[in-house]
Amino acid sequence: MAEQTNAVERASNAPAIEIEGVTHRYDKSTAVLNDVNLSLGTGFFGLLGANGAGKSTLMRIICTLLRPTEGSARVCGYDVVKECHHVREKIGYLPQSFSAWRLHRTEEVVDTLAALSGMTKKKERRQRVAEVLEEVGLTEVADRKVKKLSGGMVRRLGVAQAMVHNPEVLVVDEPTVGLDPEERMRFRQVMTNMGRDRTILLSTHIVADLGSGCSQIALIDDGTVAFQGAPSSLLEQARGQVFEITVPLESSNLVEEKHEIVSRTVQGADVSFRVVVDERGDLTFDASEVEQPSLEEAYLAFMAKRGKLERARQDEEHNAPEAPEPKKSRFGRRNKKQRD
Ligand SMILES: Nc1ncnc2c1ncn2[C@@H]1O[C@H](COP(=O)(O)OP(=O)(O)O)[C@@H](O)[C@H]1O
Ligand SMILES: [Mg+2]
Repeated sequence: MAEQTNAVERASNAPAIEIEGVTHRYDKSTAVLNDVNLSLGTGFFGLLGANGAGKSTLMRIICTLLRPTEGSARVCGYDVVKECHHVREKIGYLPQSFSAWRLHRTEEVVDTLAALSGMTKKKERRQRVAEVLEEVGLTEVADRKVKKLSGGMVRRLGVAQAMVHNPEVLVVDEPTVGLDPEERMRFRQVMTNMGRDRTILLSTHIVADLGSGCSQIALIDDGTVAFQGAPSSLLEQARGQVFEITVPLESSNLVEEKHEIVSRTVQGADVSFRVVVDERGDLTFDASEVEQPSLEEAYLAFMAKRGKLERARQDEEHNAPEAPEPKKSRFGRRNKKQRD
């Protein structure tokens, strides 16, 4: 009977993540999130936004770690405030800064966290740990101590610990910061595979991190959802806004003064600019329209319309892999070699 639907049945029909009118203030004056509404089903979703846009705040609300000032959020039908225990069973979370016990072996870390999450049967747990390490591509280093893993491997270990209780929803906050291009690609692949039968919400300020496996993008700007839809729809919106201008090197300053530059390529004595404009009439040089802009260009065109190109571009440029700060291990020794 419909009236007797219990919590478990209710949850199975509900969207994986549902956010309604969420506003959040850390202090009384500023709303860091402002009336955010989102509804996500199965698949790999990108939460895109410049630094400070509100991505981590929203994720912490979804993961029951922060209570929204206003509005509500549900995970698999469960309210993140009133039914937080159910939500925690359904969700796996990889926070923006993840580190693991450096002197433990990879497999040991996941096994211990699995035991803590309530998997008490040793045999079943062992099997699940092996399965999840396989899923994130760490089987070969299962015996290796965490301190001997590369940055990318530690990030994938973070996914393994978040996934070990087999949650329906996985939330990963900026997982690719500081990774080299190869590890980024690998991470993207792991996310795409996992997104086939569950919900993945991955935040990033780098469009390229979403890749072709991403089915929908929610773009957060200053605490509001500025765009939600398929990557193809963001590309569609960029039509008639991305152009290429080629000028001799000595005239390049003029182009830079007049236009919002997305990228530049020097070709012999000439330089080719990709620029974004609100409309063709704004062009002051001979230009040809870029028929198939990249997703990154579409994002920058979108942000340019909102007067935020500079900020979005800075984020993209600051994306070069960087060595993480040397950390003290919990035993006080310095981590001399930062491998990645
Ligand atoms: N604990 C906090 N107390 C006060 N302000 C915060 C706190 N955490 C984040 N903020 C502010 O909220 C805004 C959004 O931050 P955040 O959600 O971390 O954005 P993002 O993850 O997109 O970079 C920023 O202006 C940030 O300074
Ligand atoms: Mg963040």
